[in-house]
Amino acid sequence: MTQVIYVLNGPNLNLLGLREPDIYGHDTLDDIAGRLEDRAQELGLEIDMRQSNHEGHLVDWLHEAQAEGARAVLLNAGAFTHTSVALHDAIKAIRIPVIEVHLSNPHRREEFRHKSYVGMAALGTIAGFGANSYLLALEAVAQL
Ligand code: DQA
Repeated sequence: MTQVIYVLNGPNLNLLGLREPDIYGHDTLDDIAGRLEDRAQELGLEIDMRQSNHEGHLVDWLHEAQAEGARAVLLNAGAFTHTSVALHDAIKAIRIPVIEVHLSNPHRREEFRHKSYVGMAALGTIAGFGANSYLLALEAVAQL
């Protein structure tokens, strides 16, 4: 059976491509999903890509990833990265690896982005490579 990687995206990432392109680039979330799916196929993996502007959906999907036996989760929690104890706890509550992903490098940006509740619970973080951050995270997961 093909192993599934959940790729979970938080608030405002539905606007990728339009939103602050000088920071986040011109690729849309669908563009990124396509690239991930192509690479996943080569690796014998499957991608389940989702986006929500609602914190609780992300919590539910983390639980679901474990219940469905996903191999790993790539999580770009957007601004919830810097605020959400609930996401921190959800990552700790499940046993499958969660990789924190960001297009930008939050540490080069405003101070309020320097704290990551997600990063404090995740296995690792890939940030600052634009859309490629997702691809690099997939490579990391494939080698776990
Ligand atoms: C982001 C970085 C966050 O600080 C920001 O709130 C986002 C996008 C990124 O991918 O660079 O929404 O997660």
